Amino acid sequence: MSSTLQIQRIKESKRSLVDFDNLQFGSQFSDHMFVCDYKDGSWQNPSIEPYAPISLDPSAKIFHYGQSIFEGMKAYKDEQKNTLLFRPLDNIKRLNISAKRLVIPEFPEDLFMQGLTELLKIDDQWIPTKEGSSLYIRPFIFATGSGFHASPSTEYKLIIATAPSGAYFAGKVRVLIEEHYARSANGGVGFAKAGGNYAGQFYPTQLAIEKGYNQVIWTDDTSHEYIEEAGAMNIFIRINDTLLTSPTSDRILDGITRKSIIQIAKDAGISVDIRKVTVNEVIAAAKSGELKELFGAGTAAVISPIAAFGYQGTDYDLPDLENSYASLLKKKITDIQTNKSEDPYGWRVLI
Ligand code: PLP
Ligand code: COI
Repeated sequence: MSSTLQIQRIKESKRSLVDFDNLQFGSQFSDHMFVCDYKDGSWQNPSIEPYAPISLDPSAKIFHYGQSIFEGMKAYKDEQKNTLLFRPLDNIKRLNISAKRLVIPEFPEDLFMQGLTELLKIDDQWIPTKEGSSLYIRPFIFATGSGFHASPSTEYKLIIATAPSGAYFAGKVRVLIEEHYARSANGGVGFAKAGGNYAGQFYPTQLAIEKGYNQVIWTDDTSHEYIEEAGAMNIFIRINDTLLTSPTSDRILDGITRKSIIQIAKDAGISVDIRKVTVNEVIAAAKSGELKELFGAGTAAVISPIAAFGYQGTDYDLPDLENSYASLLKKKITDIQTNKSEDPYGWRVLI
């Protein structure tokens, strides 16, 4: 067992195969990955290795019982080619919140930051410089221990893989407000970034896509009366001049973009109200013209304005505002992330 970071470099970079001017989201992967294993009661053998397939026993618990969690972060380049992260400690803390709920051993914060920092240095050339692009970072932990017994694994693997990425959504976002299916339930794992949360969303999202929408807006699991979040984003609703967003709960992911946007909006003098918002209220505001904006916020999605939403067979279009909160807040947050503006909050971390 070793606790020293081992580094094994690839022989030939794949970078020249990637068109950095036309990046999609998360579909091409950088040369290396950070790997660390948990066994005999401790995280051990941290290493940076060539990005490559891994081999697992067919009885590994990840396949049967879905013990798997992940995070989503981004690395940015500023004009001086410095590498920057945004609130990375919040990600590792949330990874460990998810770990606890899924009975996965927590990962040491300092080892996470050491592995990630080294990985970003080795794959520095993979961090896009083009505006709107970034290196999407995907840390994940899954159960590698074998056996069909339905109990937590005693062995796990953490991997940090990265992918130079462009926008998550291509074009305008249309969402469907869900009336039947639920993403999460009281007492469940909705607040965790557990792989199974996403698997459970695929079927209702597929039905929504067949109807011409990109994403589902989840409502609460019991009454379906309250707007909660989207599949990969927290949701903001602007009624007149007030920005509304649902409070987090054990059904909703505590998004890092969400809490940053709340702070930035308040400091920009925008009235922000964190409260439960009913679907009926949003429909009434859409009908009266008081619903000015709907947008999603997340690491992958950044701030994605919603052009239209569907509910009970009717589509409601959102106005295309010139000075929208979405564009103002997107500029403010990306300027902080990419070192184009001051960072009064201390969120930006230089690598
Ligand atoms: N909600 C869900 C379900 C998500 O998957 C994400 C993405 O991570 C978010 C919200 C936004 O969270 P964050 O801003 O931390 O990326
Ligand atoms: C992220 O925004 O980082 C996410 O994890 C969303 C993901 C489902 C693409």
